[in-house]
Amino acid sequence: MKISIVGYMGSGKTTVGTELAKQLNLPMVDLDRYIESKYKTSIAELFSTLGEIKFRKIEHEALNELKNGKHDFVLAVGGGTPVYYNNMELLKDNSFTVYLQLNPNQLVKRLEGELHLRPLLAHLTKDELPTYIAKHLFERRAYYEQADLVISAADKSNKEIVHEIIAHLPPRP
Ligand code: S3P
Repeated sequence: MKISIVGYMGSGKTTVGTELAKQLNLPMVDLDRYIESKYKTSIAELFSTLGEIKFRKIEHEALNELKNGKHDFVLAVGGGTPVYYNNMELLKDNSFTVYLQLNPNQLVKRLEGELHLRPLLAHLTKDELPTYIAKHLFERRAYYEQADLVISAADKSNKEIVHEIIAHLPPRP
């Protein structure tokens, strides 16, 4: 079975995905890293040279390539992946989807020290961040909430989250 982790930037998708993959003895694929190795450049560079619209096309193509893979894996997608094209539908049709849910305040705490690392947040001041995240998460949550499993990730260790995901996986045929 393929398992996909979705959620806003800073929600811990890659960390949780890595631990989950380890526990299940599956490979872990991070969609951003997959794109970076395919295009031999960073996500930030793709955003600045091509712009967001072309990045979303590249991201959609990468997702299509991965979904056709014969082997199972844990996939951590980008925060925006579920929102563009029919990506959330693709994820749901081809994997068990998990949303790592945090509220805007919790996300602000996690993200405020690393704005410069994130192309979509790099232009914001610390003061602007809470309003931006509240609005952005509100726009995205309808997609995230379509996941098969919604995990409230605040105040839980990564181990606890992984445990909860494993407990909710559908039985294998
Ligand atoms: C994005 C999230 C990033 C990356 C890109 C756009 C988004 O991934 O794909 O910067 O739109 O939320 P992470 O959620 O892994 O940081």
